[in-house]
Amino acid sequence: MSETKQAPTTATTVVKPPSATSSENRMEPSPLELDSPGRTKAKQILKQSTAASNMSHTTEALTIVVLGASGDLAKKKTYPSLLKLYLSGYLPSSCSIIGFARSDYSDESFRVRLGKILAGIGGSEGDEQLNSFLQLCSYCRGKAYDDPEAWTLVNSHASSIEASYEVANRVFYFAVPPDVFAAAGSAIKSKCMSKNGWNRMIIEKPFGRDSESSKLLGERLSRSFSEDQLYRIDHYLGKEVVQNFMVLRFGNIFLQPLWNRDYVKSVIITFKEDIGTNGRGGYFDNYGIIRDVMQNHLLQILSLVAMEPPVRVSGEGYANFVRDEKVKALRCIPPLKLDDVLLGQYVREGDEPGYLEDPTVPEGSICPTYCLAKFNVNNARWAGVPFIMKAGKALDKRKCEIRIQFKQPPGSSSMFESKIPLNELVIRVQPDDAIYIKMNVKT
Ligand SMILES: NC(=O)c1ccc[n+]([C@@H]2O[C@H](COP(=O)([O-])OP(=O)(O)OC[C@H]3O[C@@H](n4cnc5c(N)ncnc54)[C@H](OP(=O)(O)O)[C@@H]3O)[C@@H](O)[C@H]2O)c1
Repeated sequence: MSETKQAPTTATTVVKPPSATSSENRMEPSPLELDSPGRTKAKQILKQSTAASNMSHTTEALTIVVLGASGDLAKKKTYPSLLKLYLSGYLPSSCSIIGFARSDYSDESFRVRLGKILAGIGGSEGDEQLNSFLQLCSYCRGKAYDDPEAWTLVNSHASSIEASYEVANRVFYFAVPPDVFAAAGSAIKSKCMSKNGWNRMIIEKPFGRDSESSKLLGERLSRSFSEDQLYRIDHYLGKEVVQNFMVLRFGNIFLQPLWNRDYVKSVIITFKEDIGTNGRGGYFDNYGIIRDVMQNHLLQILSLVAMEPPVRVSGEGYANFVRDEKVKALRCIPPLKLDDVLLGQYVREGDEPGYLEDPTVPEGSICPTYCLAKFNVNNARWAGVPFIMKAGKALDKRKCEIRIQFKQPPGSSSMFESKIPLNELVIRVQPDDAIYIKMNVKT
C-alpha cells in the first residue's frame, strides 16, 4: 500500500469546501461537471495562496532534479506537469529544474527535445512562455544512476544556481525503473543533498513486485533517508475528482446517513483502458493488471470510499490521520481467494492484436490483463455490502468510475407496478470528471 504526503498548500486545496455563500459555487443540475466556476474559484484561491507563499520563498531556492529525464514518464507526465505548474504560477521564481540521465544531451539539445515534447501542452499561452520555462531547465549526464562523480557534478551545478539564496531546497523526482531507486538514492545521499534546506525524494509506483520486494526497497531507501524525506506517489490521488472525495463525503450532510450498509447495496469501482500494451508489454507483463492498477490506484480510491472520518482532513499533520483511517478500512478486508476473482487476457478483435501478439510480451504469458474482484469490508459500517473492483486493458472504452448503488426504497416493489431503478451516486474519475446522482422521476 502506498501513501501520499501532501505539502500543506496542496492540503488546503484538497479539502477546501466551496464557499456556501458564493453564487459562483452553486451547483448546477447533475452531472456536476467539475470544470465549473467552483473549480476556477478554487484555483484562484490556490493561486493567491501560492503567490503569497512565494513572497516568503524569495530567500529559498528550489531545485527539482528529474532522474530519468530521458524516459517515458518524464516525457509524458513529469515535464508537462512542471510546465503546467509554471504556467499557473505555482512554481516559485527561484525554481530550477535539472534533468539527469545516462543519455547523451547537452543543456541545449535537451531543451530542444523538451521544446518539441512540450509544444502545444499549455495552449497558445503555454507556447508563448515555453522559452522562459526552458531556461529553467538544464541537463546533467552520468555514466550510471549510482555514479558518485556524476552526482558530485549535479551538486556543484545545483549549488551554483542556488548560490544567491540563503536556503536551498531540493526535490529529487525518480522517473527511473524501480531497481535503480535504492542505488541512486544512496549516491544522492552521499554527494548531492542540500546542506542548507530540505531534501525530498519522490518515488512513483511500483514499490516492488510483492510484499517482500516492497519491504526490501523500503529498507534500502530508509538506510539513506528518513521517512519524512520519502514521498511515495500514487498519481491517482492527484486527480481532481479523487481530491474531491473528502469534501464530498464529509462536507455534505445529506450523504452522511446514507453512506453505510443500511442504504448502500453495493460499491463498484471500474477501471477500463481502450488500448492494449502497445509495445510496452515488457513492463506490463512483469506486473499484470492487479499490480499495475488495482493494488495501488483502485485501492486508494476504495479506501477513500470506505474509511471512517479522519480526525482532520487539513492542517498540520492531517495526512497521518487520513492514512490511519485508510489503513483501518483496508485491515477489515479479508485476504482474497482465487474464487473471489475472475481473471482474463484480451485477444485479437478485428485489426486490434491480442495481448500475446504484442512482440514485447513473452510467448505463452498467462499474465492477466483483466481482473474482477469481489470482497467485503467487514466493519460496522460496511459488513455485508459487496465491493466489486474491475480493471482491464483493451476494453470497449476508457473509463474510471466509482458507482455507489443504493438499496430499493422500502415497500417500492408493491407500490409501483415495475421495479424502481436503483439510485446511484456516480463519481467519474476519467474521462470528463464528474459527480452525479441518478434518481427516479416519473416518465
Ligand atoms: N511511463 C509511465 O506512464 C509511468 C506511469 C506510472 C509510473 N511509472 C513508473 O515511473 C518509473 C519510470 O518509468 P518510465 O516509463 O519513464 O521508464 P523508462 O522510460 O523505461 O526509463 C526511464 C529512464 O531510465 C533509464 N533507464 C531505463 N532502464 C534502465 C535500467 N535498466 N537501468 C538504468 N537506467 C535505466 C533510461 O534513461 P537513460 O538510459 O538515459 O539513463 C530511461 O530513459 C518506473 O518506475 C515506472 O514504473 C511510469
